[in-house]
Amino acid sequence: MSIFQESCCSFLAVLLVFLLQGSRADDPGVPVHKAVGGSLDLIADYPKTDLEVKWKYNWIEFAEYEKDQFNLLDPPLFHKRIKMNKDNISITVEDLTLQDSGFFSILAVGRSGQYPTKVIVLRVHDLIRDVQIKLNHSWIESKNICRFHLLCQASGDPNPSYSWSGDPVTTGPNLSINLHLAESATVNCTANNTVSAEHTIKTVECRGKSEGSRFCVKMLNS
Ligand SMILES: *[C@@H]1O[C@H](CO)[C@@H](O)[C@H](O)[C@H]1NC(C)=O
Ligand SMILES: *[C@@H]1O[C@H](CO)[C@@H](O)[C@H](O)[C@H]1NC(C)=O
Ligand SMILES: *[C@@H]1O[C@H](CO)[C@@H](O)[C@H](O)[C@H]1NC(C)=O
Ligand SMILES: *[C@@H]1O[C@H](CO)[C@@H](O)[C@H](O)[C@H]1NC(C)=O
Ligand SMILES: *[C@@H]1O[C@H](CO)[C@@H](O)[C@H](O)[C@H]1NC(C)=O
Repeated sequence: MSIFQESCCSFLAVLLVFLLQGSRADDPGVPVHKAVGGSLDLIADYPKTDLEVKWKYNWIEFAEYEKDQFNLLDPPLFHKRIKMNKDNISITVEDLTLQDSGFFSILAVGRSGQYPTKVIVLRVHDLIRDVQIKLNHSWIESKNICRFHLLCQASGDPNPSYSWSGDPVTTGPNLSINLHLAESATVNCTANNTVSAEHTIKTVECRGKSEGSRFCVKMLNS
């Protein structure tokens, strides 16, 4: 029983030391935001003499630099998407995918000993796509105006923020505008997230109430 406890505890201690070594971050990790298709530079900018570097992804080593040579380790992570550069001792991971989001760490040992581990927290994001302006409208008889409710929608990760250009600039996905008869307005919605921005414009015109149709409002996509 006591032997079991002892070996169990020493096993745990070893595991703990292993985990701490593997994940010991002198900084909590620098968050880096990249778009799908982008690339991530992992530079070991230390004096080159006697430098040994290990690059890890989610604490699994995938590349090392030793005796002025790079080695890619098996199993190959980021297959064919890795560029190595001796000038600045950097590894570049190209064509980033959403699945690449994770923890990168750079462990380096030089002449003067071990450098603090660099941790990079990569978040790969989807570009903004399909920005659309949806709308409802109504004719307000008492005021002789058309009232438009516009809603801007787009896909993207993280969820986009929206803004409408004009005077004043409006933020958020919704915009309401009133137009008098025969007036028109061109609205411009921009959706952005950390890595990209896209916009779309639409022109609306108030035609008031005319024969046959209750709300005769013209919408133009541009
Ligand atoms: C490292 O050097 C290569 C070639 O000189 C360059 O393309 C790359 O941008 C450099 N990386 C960094 C992070 O400076
Ligand atoms: C337009 O009206 C429909 C039905 O009432 C509603 O589901 C939709 O969210 C409205 N759209 C806007 C842009 O207000
Ligand atoms: C925007 O409008 C839609 C429908 O018109 C509504 O469901 C939503 O709650 C509104 N959002 C905000 C932030 O006002
Ligand atoms: C719409 O807004 C974006 C920036 O948010 C700007 O780059 C673009 O030129 C604008 N388009 C028009 C037609 O105003
Ligand atoms: C969109 O851009 C604005 C201004 O450039 C910025 O304040 C905002 O944080 C961005 N939104 C996201 C989700 O990154």
